[in-house]
Amino acid sequence: MLWSGATLRRMTVSANPTGPSPAELWSTGDYADVCDRMIPGLGARLVELAKVGSAEEVLDVAAGSGNASLPAARRGAKVTALDITPALLEIGRQRAAADGLDIAWVQGDAQAMPFAEASFDIVLSCVGVQFCADAESAAAELVRVCRPGGRIALIAWTPEGFIGQVLAAVSSATSGNSRPRALDWGSEEAVTDMFGQLAKDVSFSREHVTMPAPSAAAWVDYMATAYGPMAMARQALQARSAWTPVREELRAIATAHDGGDGDAFSARAEYLTVVLSR
Ligand SMILES: C[S@@+](CC[C@H](N)C(=O)[O-])C[C@H]1O[C@@H](n2cnc3c(N)ncnc32)[C@H](O)[C@@H]1O
Repeated sequence: MLWSGATLRRMTVSANPTGPSPAELWSTGDYADVCDRMIPGLGARLVELAKVGSAEEVLDVAAGSGNASLPAARRGAKVTALDITPALLEIGRQRAAADGLDIAWVQGDAQAMPFAEASFDIVLSCVGVQFCADAESAAAELVRVCRPGGRIALIAWTPEGFIGQVLAAVSSATSGNSRPRALDWGSEEAVTDMFGQLAKDVSFSREHVTMPAPSAAAWVDYMATAYGPMAMARQALQARSAWTPVREELRAIATAHDGGDGDAFSARAEYLTVVLSR
């Protein structure tokens, strides 16, 4: 059950028996609505961390509907937004047009990007590149397309934080893997290993956003409808009558992170920021 006002733009269900493609996964539910409700300021925070300046060439990797691309373009940067999910790029394109912002929207895979070496001054990814299947290829690509002396700035959910625990619980219930690779991007140690000699001057910080809902149960039910990875998991688990205990586990995780006043739910969701020089 969704709370009042939570109407979703699109609902799709994968018919692929071998598992969803990334584009199917992220066009299930309504990711743009999740972004607007749960992390509306996160892209702007990343742009601030990267110190995006006017006229700089900026690439936003796994850009979704433009959470970081739009604020970067508002600063006067020349922005390219790359994502694998056409439906999200289309929402971003419409938002940019409505705001009179000129952004290049490119469909492509972050693990093999369609850009020449050293094309960008700044490479960003806001809770985006962490969802690539091949972390090493994605990290190498971020470095390859960034010019020497340029900056790479990332935001990723930490394994210890609210969303990290939710993703781990969902992964454990669906595949038996309680430490999905996505969460390596939220670990200082794993990020240092991933980039190795490819980058220098790495700096980290841990910050958090607060996620609102009427209650912990309402948050879980909304996300299990609107957020692709959770919606897909719910569908798979419901098909084998295994959703109810997982829903209860997710509600318990949400409750444990609730810092609200008792009337409404407001969960603290930790993320790692990473800024590197090329
Ligand atoms: C959690 S969303 C983040 C979107 C956006 N950066 C934001 O802050 O809202 C994850 C994004 O990663 C994209 N994605 C997943 N795998 C990808 C890949 N291999 N290449 C490019 N984009 C990918 C999805 O399409 C989705 O838009």
